[in-house]
Amino acid sequence: DAMQRGRYRHFMQKEIFEQPAAVAETLEGRIGADHVLPNIFGVGSDEVLRRVRQVHIVACGTSYHAGLVARYQLEQLAGIPCLAEVASEYRYRDPVVPEDALFVVVSQSGETADTLAALRHARESGYLATLAICNVPESSIVREADLVLMTRAGPEIGVASTKAFTTQLVALQLLVLELAQLGGRIEPDQLREWVADLNRLPDVMRQALTLDEAIERLAGHFVEKHHALFLGRGSHYPIAMEGALKLKEISYIHAEAYPAGELKHGPLALVDHDMPVVAVAPNNSLLQKLISNIEEVRARGGEMFVIADARAGASLNERHGEIVELETGGALLAPVVLTVPLQLLAYHVAVLRGTDVDQPRNLAKSVTVE
Ligand code: G6P
Repeated sequence: DAMQRGRYRHFMQKEIFEQPAAVAETLEGRIGADHVLPNIFGVGSDEVLRRVRQVHIVACGTSYHAGLVARYQLEQLAGIPCLAEVASEYRYRDPVVPEDALFVVVSQSGETADTLAALRHARESGYLATLAICNVPESSIVREADLVLMTRAGPEIGVASTKAFTTQLVALQLLVLELAQLGGRIEPDQLREWVADLNRLPDVMRQALTLDEAIERLAGHFVEKHHALFLGRGSHYPIAMEGALKLKEISYIHAEAYPAGELKHGPLALVDHDMPVVAVAPNNSLLQKLISNIEEVRARGGEMFVIADARAGASLNERHGEIVELETGGALLAPVVLTVPLQLLAYHVAVLRGTDVDQPRNLAKSVTVE
């Protein structure tokens, strides 16, 4: 155990720091300088994917959050309608399957009972094809899907998923770009730019990890708290959900994510000095809206922590709370990069609270029974 952990105190910490390498590994041999390489989803996959006009993504837990990010990016960057849903819901309803729809399951283990059942259900439901994004090569989900893209995160030991999540985001981004490219839905210049962004991702993540000590200092503000609220908009709302999930899983602090625009429809009533609020602030067209939400929290005496893109940071000051700034690498990469400080925050809060970081109570790494 100690030998495998090396210089790290916990597997989760080690896995957080392995992310630049895991992401580089997941991209290896899959993109060139300006396009996605042929048939990376399996032999003959380009021919199938060229026909896709709709996507349904199904998963559980953290993998579901990856699917939600992909949903925003598929619609926004590739113009393809997409639905993302938790497997335990999907498997028991009667989804209407549109023509030329691709069914995607996302799973670290490839053995999650609900996700596997959803895949089996989908195979009987008239989809164009099924595609698995998975981290374990010999798993049931990989064996049963038509098309496969492996995340190459390596073994993940910590129950709270970290490097599996960011490599899933990257694998799904490859799918977004692939569908955009095959369907002629994207200008070659734009495609070249996004592929170049992906090639830079391991470096941008490495920089994000240098925030470790700054985040460790913030963690002190959360130790005595019982609740925390995470806010985000657009593709960063699921990143806020993931930040909240990480915190609750390993520190046992009740944490909840809200789309920032919904603040005044409920959670604002809870805001006081005892409930820290974390906002995820990329530099995009929704920034000013998010800043208004941050100001609403501040006006009610709430303690704010803003994880912000370096350029977005220019519109923020101490009036808005504690600001942590980082380079996020633009629209495609930002959700992946902004995940890193949230993982570090959950990790340090849990360490300070003295919980069992790698094996949180009542949770399992792979949920193979319903
Ligand atoms: C469990 C794990 C989570 C994981 C989820 C889905 O709840 O603790 O970390 O996200 O299962 O697992 P999968 O292997 O399908 O991604």
